[in-house]
Amino acid sequence: MFKSKTLFASTLTALLCFVSAAPTKPGPDASPSIQVCTTAGTGCVTLPVVSDDCVNLTGGLSFLDQEITTATIPGGLICTFFQDFGCTATGVTNAGTDSEIVLQEGTWNFLSVPGLSGPTNFNDLTNSLTCSPL
Ligand SMILES: *[C@@H]1O[C@H](CO)[C@@H](O)[C@H](O)[C@H]1NC(C)=O
Repeated sequence: MFKSKTLFASTLTALLCFVSAAPTKPGPDASPSIQVCTTAGTGCVTLPVVSDDCVNLTGGLSFLDQEITTATIPGGLICTFFQDFGCTATGVTNAGTDSEIVLQEGTWNFLSVPGLSGPTNFNDLTNSLTCSPL
């Protein structure tokens, strides 16, 4: 069930995003992944997410740093996106906006996502993220 939902989500996103990472065939041990895009419809990449690991958008992922505009999260995962590196939410550097957003299954446009205090614009703000199975 989880694997077929993952496959469905990544297929759907591949259609939505013109540029996407090479399709991967989920094997028996495929780790869950999310898809993020730098602008709606382009610049998409599939990010494998290791449960509870913090992903800093540095190094090879620098092109995503403060560039994420959409995210597709498969069923069974919950992901938190942070404005700070290190998956901590201090909110110090970005007064007036939520310092983190928590998203479950779906394709999300960060221009308006459910924030901790209501709908928020989280476009181009993500510096790190972490996902966990539900
Ligand atoms: C992410 O960045 C923070 C702040 O620079 C650092 O403390 C943390 O160790 C990094 N985490 C990983 C998994 O690289």
